[in-house]
Amino acid sequence: MTTIEHVLGDITNQNVDVIVNAANSSLLGGGGVDGAIHRKGGPEILAACRELRAGHYGGGLRTGQAVATTAGRLAARWVVHTVGPVWSDTEDRSGLLADCHRNSLKVAAELGATSIAFPAISTGIYRWPVDSAAKIARTAVEDAEIDLIRFVLFDQATYDAFTRP
Ligand code: APR
Repeated sequence: MTTIEHVLGDITNQNVDVIVNAANSSLLGGGGVDGAIHRKGGPEILAACRELRAGHYGGGLRTGQAVATTAGRLAARWVVHTVGPVWSDTEDRSGLLADCHRNSLKVAAELGATSIAFPAISTGIYRWPVDSAAKIARTAVEDAEIDLIRFVLFDQATYDAFTRP
C-alpha cells in the first residue's frame, strides 16, 4: 500500500530515501530545485554526475530518463536526477513528464528505496502549467509499489494545484 503525501516546503529538507531532482540533460546543475539540491547536497553530487557524464551518460541524460547519484550531505540516501520536458504549445510531451515519474520510481525500486520525494517537475523554468503537471504526476504514480511518495511543493499555488481533488 503506497502512501501519497503533499507538503509545502523545500525538497532539500526531506528525510526520505530518494529525493528527485528536476535536472537538465547536462546533469551539471542549474537553477531552481537543481541548484538547491547541488548547493545543499555539496560537491559530491556534482562529482558523481560528472562520473556519469564521463561514462554511460556521455551524451547527457535524455528527457524522461532517470539516474541515481549519492545525496551528498542531504538527509536522503540518493538523489534521482530526471529531465523534465520543456512545455510546448504545439507538441504533447505529457508522456515524457509521466516517464520522469515512472522512471524515477523504477530507479528508486532498484535501489531498494521505500520512500521518495518529488518536486513539481517541469513547472518552473520549463514552464509546464501546474494544473496539467499535477494531473500527469498523480496518474503516473498511481500504481507505484513504494511505501511513501511525497510531493514537495515550493509555493502555495503549486501546493493547491497538486492537492486539488
Ligand atoms: N524544493 C522544492 N521545490 C522547489 C525548490 C526546492 N528547494 N526550488 C524550486 N522548486 C520548485 C519550483 O518552484 C517549481 O515548482 O520546483 C519546481 C520545478 O522548477 P525548476 O526547478 O525550475 O525545474 P524545471 O521547471 O523542471 O526546469 C528544469 O531548471 O533548474 C534548472 O537545471 C534545471 O535546466 C533545468 C531546469
